[in-house]
Amino acid sequence: MNQPIIADNQPKQVSLEEGKKYAFCACGHSQTQPFCDGSHKGTGFSPKVFVAEEGGEAYLCQCKQTGNTPWCDGTHKQFAKEQVGKAAPGPQG
Ligand code: FES
Repeated sequence: MNQPIIADNQPKQVSLEEGKKYAFCACGHSQTQPFCDGSHKGTGFSPKVFVAEEGGEAYLCQCKQTGNTPWCDGTHKQFAKEQVGKAAPGPQG
């Protein structure tokens, strides 16, 4: 199966608005991380649409390997800077 691109090996701090709908980039190709810019077309990935239950600062995943999409869960720590921009190794990698 296709693996997403590691957009970065650290989360992105964003300011969310309570009740607002966001489209989180799941493929890693978006140039407007951590949000979708439509670049997933043809990749087999779709953005993860979510509604912010609370407003305020949040850390969204950019390595695209979090177990708690769209939030950073610390999984990015296993990726080196050299892996940024490349496909994630996947569960067996
Ligand atoms: S950026 Fe932290 S888990 Fe993906």
